[in-house]
Amino acid sequence: MFKELWKRRVKLVEEDLVKELRRTKSLDENLSRAMEYSLMAGGKRLRPILLMAAADAAGGAGEKFVTVADALEMIHTYSLIHDDLPAMDNDDYRRGKLTNHKVFGEATAILAGDALLTLAFEVALRQENVPLEILLAVLREISTAAGAAGMVGGQAIDLRSEGVRIDFATLKLMHRGKTGALFRAAIRSGALLAQADDEKLDALTRYAENFGLAFQITDDILDVVGDEKILGKPTGSDEKNSKSTYVSLTSLEEARGFAQAAVDEALDALKIFGTEADFFRELVQYLIAREK
Ligand code: IPE
Ligand code: IPE
Ligand code: MG
Ligand code: MG
Ligand code: MG
Repeated sequence: MFKELWKRRVKLVEEDLVKELRRTKSLDENLSRAMEYSLMAGGKRLRPILLMAAADAAGGAGEKFVTVADALEMIHTYSLIHDDLPAMDNDDYRRGKLTNHKVFGEATAILAGDALLTLAFEVALRQENVPLEILLAVLREISTAAGAAGMVGGQAIDLRSEGVRIDFATLKLMHRGKTGALFRAAIRSGALLAQADDEKLDALTRYAENFGLAFQITDDILDVVGDEKILGKPTGSDEKNSKSTYVSLTSLEEARGFAQAAVDEALDALKIFGTEADFFRELVQYLIAREK
C-alpha cells in the first residue's frame, strides 16, 4: 500500500515536472536540455512525496499541492548538480547517469542549477487553490531552508570540514543544514498547505527533523557499504574527499545506532496521529534499511 502510493505519486510528480519545464520559455536550447537531463533522471522524489504525505496527515488531500511539490524537487536537483561539480564533490555519476557537468560541461551545469533554483519559485507561485497568505508562508519556509540558513549553509560546512576533525555539534549542524532543512521544509509546507493546527505542525516538524537526520546518516553509511549500481552514484566519494561524516567521526556500528535512534524519535513524534500518518511510519523505517 505504501509502496504503491509512493509509486503513483512519483508518476504524478514526474508528469507535472515535464509539464512545468515545457511551459518555461528558455532562451537557450542547450540549457533547457541540461535542466531536463538532471530533473528527469529519476530519483526517489522524496521531498515532493513528503510534502504530499504531510498534507494527508494533516487532513488535506496531498495531491492538490503537486505544484509546490515540483518546486522542491527542482531545488533538490539543482543542489545535486552543484554538489557533484569538480569544485565540490567531483563525482561522475548521479541517478544512474553521468553527472550534469560530465555531459554538458561545468559552465552549463552551473547555469542549469541556477535556472532550476529560480524556476522552482516561478513554479511554486503557480500553485492554485491556496490562500495567498498561506502560499507566502510556504515560500518563506522553502526559501529560508534552501539558502545560507539551511541547505547551502550546510554545504558550506561540509566543504570546510574536508580533511579536518570537526566536533559532533558541527557534524549535526551540517546534517541539519545540507539535508535536514529541505526535508523539514517539505513536511512543514505540506502541513501548512493543509492548514494543520499548531500541535500537528509541531509533531510533523519533529518527525521531519529526525527523518532528515536518519536519512543523511544512512546516506553516509551507503557511501561506505552501498552498491554503486543500485545507488546510481559512486561509493567511496566521502573517503576520496576526506569528508566528515557520521561514519568517519564514529564507526559504522555507531552510525547505525544513531540512525535507529533518530527513527525511534521520528516514530514517537507521530504518536498523536492515527492511521493518517501510517505512510510516514512505514517510510522512515523503509529508508533506514534502503539500498538506494
Ligand atoms: C541525495 O538525496 C542527496 C542527499 C541529500 C543525501 P536523495 O537520496 O534524495 O537523492 P535522489 O533524489 O533520490 O536522487
Ligand atoms: C549532499 O550530501 C547534500 C546536498 C545538499 C546535495 P552528499 O554530498 O553526501 O550527497 P551525495 O551522497 O553526493 O548524494
Ligand atoms: Mg556533498
Ligand atoms: Mg556528494
Ligand atoms: Mg553522500
